[in-house]
Amino acid sequence: MNNVLIERTVDFVKEKLHGAEAGHDWFHIERVWKLSKKIAETEKCNLEVVELSALLHDIADPKFHGGDETLALKISREFLEREKASAEIIDQVLFIIKNISFKNRGEIPETIPVELKIVQDADRLDAIGAIGIARTFNFGGFKNNLMYHPGIPPKLNMSKEEYKKNEGTTINHFYEKLLLLSDLMHTKAAKKIASERHDFMLKFLNEFYKEWNSDY
Ligand code: ADP
Ligand code: NI
Repeated sequence: MNNVLIERTVDFVKEKLHGAEAGHDWFHIERVWKLSKKIAETEKCNLEVVELSALLHDIADPKFHGGDETLALKISREFLEREKASAEIIDQVLFIIKNISFKNRGEIPETIPVELKIVQDADRLDAIGAIGIARTFNFGGFKNNLMYHPGIPPKLNMSKEEYKKNEGTTINHFYEKLLLLSDLMHTKAAKKIASERHDFMLKFLNEFYKEWNSDY
C-alpha cells in the first residue's frame, strides 16, 4: 500500500480542519481512521480505500459550508488527482464520501461496498457512547440549542430536509439519531462495540432525567 499517500492525506486533513468545531475536527477524523483500521482487520477489503475515505470523509461537512453537498467531493478529487492516485481508487473513495452520511441513509444503492460499510460503521461508532454524548452536547452548544426541554418531544422519521433544519434540543437528538445507530451497524466487529456504547447512552439518559427531576 502507498503509505506516503496516507501520510500526505493526514497532513492535508489536519491543515484543512484547523479550527473546526470540536466534534468534527481532526481528532474525530483520527478516531474514525483508527476504528476503521480495527474493523478492517476483521473484513476482506481494500485497506487503502478504507483509510483514505476515513481521512477525507468530513473534509467539508455541508453543515458547516452552507449546505453544499458537493464541496467535499470536489476537494477530495482535486487532492487525490494532485497526488496521482489511480482513477479506480478516486472513484471508490468519492463514492464512500458521498454516501456515508446519516441523513443520506436510504439513498444508497442496494449493494454497498465493504469499504463503505467499514467507514460508515466507524463514523457511526464515534457518534455514540461517551464520545458521542460529548460531541452532541458540543454541537448543541455550538448551535446555541437547549440541552433539554420537557415540553418539546423528539421528531421521529424526519425527512432529510426536516432533519437538516431541525432546531430541537440536544437530548432529542439522542432519539432522533444516536439511539438508532446501533441497529444500523453493518459489520460484526462494529455491532459488538455499538452495543456497549448504546447501553452507556441509556444509562446516561436515565441519570440525566433523574437529576433533572431531583428524583431521589
Ligand atoms: P452525519 O455527519 O453522519 O450526516 P450528522 O450531521 O447528523 O451526521 O451529525 C454528526 C454529529 O453532529 C452527530 O453525531 C452529533 O454529535 C452532532 N449533531 C448533529 N446534529 C445535531 C443536533 N441537532 N443536536 C446535537 N448534535 C448534533
Ligand atoms: Ni464523521
